[in-house]
Amino acid sequence: MSRVADEKVLVLDFGSQYAQLIARRVRHQQVYCEIVRHDITADRVRELAPKGLILSGGPASVYAEGAPRCDLGLFRLGLPVLGICYGMQLICEALGSRVASTPAREYGRAQCQVTSDDALFLGVPPQTQVWMSHGDQVTAVSDDFVSLARTDTCPFAAVRHRRLPIYGLQFHPEVTHTPQGEQILGNFLKGICGCAGTWRLGDFAEQTIAELRRRIGDDRVICGLSGGVDSSIVAALLARAIGPRLSCILVDNGLLRKGEARAVIREFSDHFKTDLHVVRAEDRFLAALAGQINPQEKRRTIGRMFIECFADEAARIEGARFLAQGTLYPDVIESGGSLDGPAATIKLHHNVGGLPEDLSFELVEPLRDLFKDEVRQLGSQLGLPEEIVWRHPFPGPGLAVRCVGPVTRERLETLREADAIVVEEIKHAGLYRQTSQSFAVLLPVQSVGVMGDARTYDDVVAVRSIDSEDFMTADWSHLPYELLARISTRIINEVSGVNRVVYDISSKPPATIEWE
Ligand code: XMP
Repeated sequence: MSRVADEKVLVLDFGSQYAQLIARRVRHQQVYCEIVRHDITADRVRELAPKGLILSGGPASVYAEGAPRCDLGLFRLGLPVLGICYGMQLICEALGSRVASTPAREYGRAQCQVTSDDALFLGVPPQTQVWMSHGDQVTAVSDDFVSLARTDTCPFAAVRHRRLPIYGLQFHPEVTHTPQGEQILGNFLKGICGCAGTWRLGDFAEQTIAELRRRIGDDRVICGLSGGVDSSIVAALLARAIGPRLSCILVDNGLLRKGEARAVIREFSDHFKTDLHVVRAEDRFLAALAGQINPQEKRRTIGRMFIECFADEAARIEGARFLAQGTLYPDVIESGGSLDGPAATIKLHHNVGGLPEDLSFELVEPLRDLFKDEVRQLGSQLGLPEEIVWRHPFPGPGLAVRCVGPVTRERLETLREADAIVVEEIKHAGLYRQTSQSFAVLLPVQSVGVMGDARTYDDVVAVRSIDSEDFMTADWSHLPYELLARISTRIINEVSGVNRVVYDISSKPPATIEWE
């Protein structure tokens, strides 16, 4: 449990795709929050001393065999509890109400009528839109519960226990499709749990820097830099904490975006004045990738080469005891790496490119408690430039998995130029921060075209731009036609060997964000 928060709330994870989103929304209200296993014991909760509990949604039906349940002792702790969707059904069923399947799954927006002036709905208009996503719902409540809100199809859209501070919401307050969701969550946290909202990132930065100094003492730390947001912010924190005893390694694998290596060198060598080691390894990576077209094979090769290059360089740095990594809270949750957290659900391919555990360094992971948006805020506070703080995520295997088919120097050059145009134009249109990831993909397809009087048979570039909260699901960005037109014209005119540009209009799922 974090040392940085004097008040916190726990989110019990019942397998909802939204559990992390709930935790982020809570932190937006300046209340520190962690995700824990659904079967955490009441004794352990008492030890952790949260101000309240939130039971997440989940895909199961409360009556199904093996459905995840919680320790009933939780309801006797006197703590405020908010159950969302499955969490509500579980509470109601556990405390004597009836849950049943509705004839049709309800999914989407619904009009909700607030029928009570309970503190949970303070400041919420009597008619408000909510987002529903459920198969079961509570059909009758025991005398212990009262209904606070209803929709046309759901008589118990919100309930509360008559004597205990226990609440249930059938809808999802954590998603943006519930416009009053933030207000409702805020009412629960501040009005019902009595949280003051004292969680501040500025304090986090100062405390983390002090703690890093204490832990590292006079030793040296190595930090791998990738050009991405997370590793840059780890390095910036360490540079503030231990200055010249930080050594950074940038493996320039030849698969980075245009100008990326240069920007990292400028920032960490010139500005932060760290001991920066740049490993120029393009030739080694390209030789190892020669002839490979299978995405997983590419990933494995790149992962292996990265470890080799990194370990070689690290061995040259004398007296290093620690290795810093930009592990974030979602990585900790998904890898099952937190003490009270849910079991692992990691997407294995994203692990490739990490470092093996036997590098004989002690790990320093100062961002373990943070979500991505918090990491970005922290980066701004540490004075990192906008270009680094707001850079879209980039996969470890880099442009290799956007160069569909063989990875060669020439094809990478074509892709890098096209990609730079996509990013430049989206920035120019003021849409870079609004989109979550925008990039070019080079396809292994030639198509016929005409240029002047000549017939061409050139490459096709796909443009991909997506909007996403968490990168687990994503919608393709509805970019303006004029912007798409400019991107297409510029790529075809300026990038030699490309005569056709297409826009990828697939959502995730079922498509993934990357093409490989
Ligand atoms: P997908 O393509 O699975 O991507 O929808 C989800 C997010 O993960 C990134 N991604 C990777 N990141 N190594 C990484 O470090 C990888 O092999 C990898 N593959 C995908 C992707 O860019 C997106 O942000």
